[in-house]
Amino acid sequence: MVDMDTIVSLCKRRGFVFQNSEIYGGIGSTWDYGPLGVEFKNNVKRAWWRSVVLTRDDMVGLDAAILMHPQVWVASGHVESFNDPLVDCKECKQRFRADDIEGDRCPACGGQLTQSRQFNTMFKTFVGPVEDDAAVSWLRPETAQGIFVDFKNVQMASRKKVPFGIAQIGKAFRNEITTGNFTFRTREFEQMEIEFFVKPGTDEEWHERWIQDRLNWYVTYGLKREGLRLRPHSPNELAFYSKGTTDIEYSFPWGWGELEGIANRTDYDLRRHMEYSGKDLSYFDDSTNEEYVPYVIEPSGGVDRAALVFMIDAYHEEEVRGEKRVVLKLHKDLAPIKAAVFPLKRNEPRIVEVARKLAADLRTSIPSEYDDTGSIGKLYRRQDEIGTLWGITVDFQSLEDQTVTIRDRDTMEQDRVSIDGVKRLLIEKLGAC
Ligand code: GAP
Repeated sequence: MVDMDTIVSLCKRRGFVFQNSEIYGGIGSTWDYGPLGVEFKNNVKRAWWRSVVLTRDDMVGLDAAILMHPQVWVASGHVESFNDPLVDCKECKQRFRADDIEGDRCPACGGQLTQSRQFNTMFKTFVGPVEDDAAVSWLRPETAQGIFVDFKNVQMASRKKVPFGIAQIGKAFRNEITTGNFTFRTREFEQMEIEFFVKPGTDEEWHERWIQDRLNWYVTYGLKREGLRLRPHSPNELAFYSKGTTDIEYSFPWGWGELEGIANRTDYDLRRHMEYSGKDLSYFDDSTNEEYVPYVIEPSGGVDRAALVFMIDAYHEEEVRGEKRVVLKLHKDLAPIKAAVFPLKRNEPRIVEVARKLAADLRTSIPSEYDDTGSIGKLYRRQDEIGTLWGITVDFQSLEDQTVTIRDRDTMEQDRVSIDGVKRLLIEKLGAC
């Protein structure tokens, strides 16, 4: 398996991910997605949205605000319970999550550690110009609460009947004590969350269905099944709101790590918001004349983690004619650039003109680019390294018979096709995405 240094270096060199505020020395575990990274991450989000919203009739979307009424976080239990146990080293002053430490000595310097204490990992802020207790709010540590408090509005407006779900993608913030492993654990990250509302009593069956659906999604978009596992939480690690959680874990270069958690949140959140807001969030089923507070199944994944594992799994090194070829075998829907057009000779104006025209035409429908900054061999290698699906070369023959070669990223096979048919062919190959 590829090591993380190779991935981090590729990400920086090719503009997928940069360290944030790098010219100032960076800020702990905060990353920026560069020109290719933003396209790639958008594709991951689009693939998820398509799978859980656009292709289902029991799901709708939402984009709630990051800042919420402070009572939301009291009601949700986060103010009281969203804590990590923290220990300080009395010698070197470093801080650690108590549950990451074995023994009672500092792993950095061997110094003595303080007693463990609870540390709330929500980022506190003030809303408005006055910095007093009444103005305190928090940056959301999960997108889920925006869905719970909008449950009634969404249900009424969309006229969905239980069982149905609400999906949301957005930023979440946690003042993590320990971060690291590149974009795996950061303080600012993006979540893709679903709250799926079901009739109590049907929750366990829906929980199972969602676990399988979400596992299949990762495999559909390129992950090898053997690099994934399902891990049910033991009772003592369950989040305060959960009756049962199963994590989808991935075998990272450093070991197994969580990609997504699928929790049975019961009616905990809706009931708490009913209690704190005084508003009724129950559901009336007019086909059975029953009224109940729905249970909630929550598949909650990280966009950054999904993007990272799709990249790790796609990374291949091969030997081709005695040379190393690095190729990102990303799923076609995830590849940031689908096609790149090259002129065989960049100082031959007739070839350049045809190539530029073709690239401009493709760009209106397919993420594509024109590149003439090296020899064809070099251009293929550069595009392979970022996962571009097809390399299209305009050569002397193109001037005579209006055909070009299309090279497939994975097989490296080349076909000659008519210039007029290139766009239609690639759109067909891409299918709906
Ligand atoms: N609403 C439920 C919830 O937030 P979680 O297991 O704490 O559950 C869900 O988070 C997902 O969000 C995780 O599986 C992970 O993919 C992502 N995530 C959580 N904390 C993260 C962090 N500090 N950095 C990057 N991704 C994170």
